[in-house]
Amino acid sequence: MLTKKYKGIILAGGNGTRLFPATKVMSKQLLPVYDKPMIYYPLSILLLAEIYEILIISTSTDIERFKNLLGDGLQFGIKIEYAIQETPRGLADAFLVGEDFLDGSPACLILGDNIFYGSEISTSLKSAQNHDGGTIFAYHVADPERYGVVEFDTNHKVLSIEEKPTHPKSSLAVTGLYFYDSNVVSYAKTIQPSYRGELEITDLNKIYLNLNNLNVITLKRGFAWLDTGTHDSLLDASNFIHTIEKRQGIKIACIEEICLSKGLITKKDIIRMLSNMGDNTYSLYLRRLVG
Ligand code: TTP
Repeated sequence: MLTKKYKGIILAGGNGTRLFPATKVMSKQLLPVYDKPMIYYPLSILLLAEIYEILIISTSTDIERFKNLLGDGLQFGIKIEYAIQETPRGLADAFLVGEDFLDGSPACLILGDNIFYGSEISTSLKSAQNHDGGTIFAYHVADPERYGVVEFDTNHKVLSIEEKPTHPKSSLAVTGLYFYDSNVVSYAKTIQPSYRGELEITDLNKIYLNLNNLNVITLKRGFAWLDTGTHDSLLDASNFIHTIEKRQGIKIACIEEICLSKGLITKKDIIRMLSNMGDNTYSLYLRRLVG
């Protein structure tokens, strides 16, 4: 039984410059990763974490498209709100934009372009919510210099976190999934913009670390953490999802399926949704599910 009720934030703004021209008139997080919009993947993680009050943050030009896609969430048995981030002021800015939405609740932030896939995810998501302070996830990567990097001592105690270090002290990157207690907004307000003019999430994590209140869960090698920010990584992610879905005949990040399994909606609700979905592999999958 979870003791505190977390609210979720999906940060889905940004410039998407590395995906230009695909992102010239379209938000990165609405581009497809194989058979569904990118934002379905982080949304599915929040639902697996049983976080059902969600804020989507995006730019003023894109926010309407997200509203058109997901609405108020009622059709999924959840609540979705929206907020605008005028300029990409950094990941920690999510807590300033989301202050009213959070209203003193602990928060889970997930980046709109991050994909998590692995069998132990639900356990990790539960354990993160049972920890006071902050919980972040580390993952072994080939190019740690592109990320925040965690250094552990031999007892798995965190020694340091460095943002995009030239000489990384480990290969463990901080992923785009963060759980924080209800102090997060007040801590975020103390962060000064970095040399790139952004409120860095690494600075927020350092606050929790200095208070000896940062829990780092290392995701095992059998787990997949994919980011989709470049043409190559977007194609890799699509191919990855395609390969697993084709092999298993089971969809990854099918929102309706997760909501059904969590008891948020019924088969009848899905049948109703199917009447507006047309014929495609996604609707065929849902038809089989409720058939
Ligand atoms: P990035 O990939 O760092 O930035 P970006 O999406 O603008 O892409 P590019 O570097 O190609 O210009 O952002 C990671 C995620 O966080 C992505 O989902 C966008 C989102 N984001 C915001 O919504 N607001 C922000 O201020 C920042 C920095 C990122």
